[in-house]
Amino acid sequence: MNKTPRVCVWHVQGDTYRDALQERLPDAPIEAINAATHETGEAVLSAPDSGPVAAGAASLIIDAMSSAEILLAWKVPPGTLASMPALRWVQVTGAGVDHFLESTELPPAVIVTRSLGRFGIQISEYVVGYLLHHLIGINTYREKQRSHEWARNERPLLADRTVGIIGLGSLGLPTATALTTLGARVLGVSHSGLAVPGIDDVFSATSWRNMLPACDALVIAAPKTVETVGMIDHRALDALPEGTILINISRGELIDEDALLEALESGHLGAAVLDVFDTEPLPEDHPLWDQSRAWITPHIAAPSEIEVIANEFANNYRRYVAGDPLLNEVDRGRGY
Ligand code: OXD
Repeated sequence: MNKTPRVCVWHVQGDTYRDALQERLPDAPIEAINAATHETGEAVLSAPDSGPVAAGAASLIIDAMSSAEILLAWKVPPGTLASMPALRWVQVTGAGVDHFLESTELPPAVIVTRSLGRFGIQISEYVVGYLLHHLIGINTYREKQRSHEWARNERPLLADRTVGIIGLGSLGLPTATALTTLGARVLGVSHSGLAVPGIDDVFSATSWRNMLPACDALVIAAPKTVETVGMIDHRALDALPEGTILINISRGELIDEDALLEALESGHLGAAVLDVFDTEPLPEDHPLWDQSRAWITPHIAAPSEIEVIANEFANNYRRYVAGDPLLNEVDRGRGY
């Protein structure tokens, strides 16, 4: 094993990541490639027809890729992994690693680790924030304020509500804890369906639909795998009580978008709070933008914080060099 394995950082904030890593790992050879967008990971200055600067940048990119044993990235464009012959380990800067696992270019022996960041806290705040916003009716009172209207509505409590959470991992579990702290009843779905302290009832991959009729709100926090893609279909949405609030902070592909639009249009769903979509950025002409029951955020529920991710990566890098098992390794067969 190389004592100072080369690292390639590939990210929209590649230079900032490299500097943060270099501070923690002064002896590690680290190259940064700056991506143009989060969504595609396309490298900046990689256009072949943009003159000598681009040509120089392109050759740096090729050098970094051909020698790196380790890749720290959110997303890389097609063709990248196939051009990294020395690659042994990929650390993803986010919680979800589906885009790497789906790549046919990723050799089977390459280890994939994910980051924990402060995603659990971030997702909990997002979910609790949107649920309270809806239950208190913050938007309604704001509108009434504009017309100087003193109009009282019902004041439902989260503490009287049941929230179902699909996925009880590093995102779902802290969210469940935050909700139970506020007095909500929480139900959950995990692959095994094994009991989890603090969660009223846990349903399995085969019994999860039985949970739906009891939910005032449903939070999708499961990873994208072959098992979960399209799971929130017509049947699942129909099984939810009228007026349910749906929150998706996982991946757009877990929900059948046509079924979702129908459920919003008919008013069967009270609201859908959506941070993730089949296509990102959400196309400008997508019908969800104008659907009044949809609350859209641009995949910001749990952003990766460079200092936090750099600490996680540096810790794992030292373990890698020492030959110790890496933290947060993904089971590539299971998909998370
Ligand atoms: C993640 C994400 O997986 O932000 O971390 O989607």
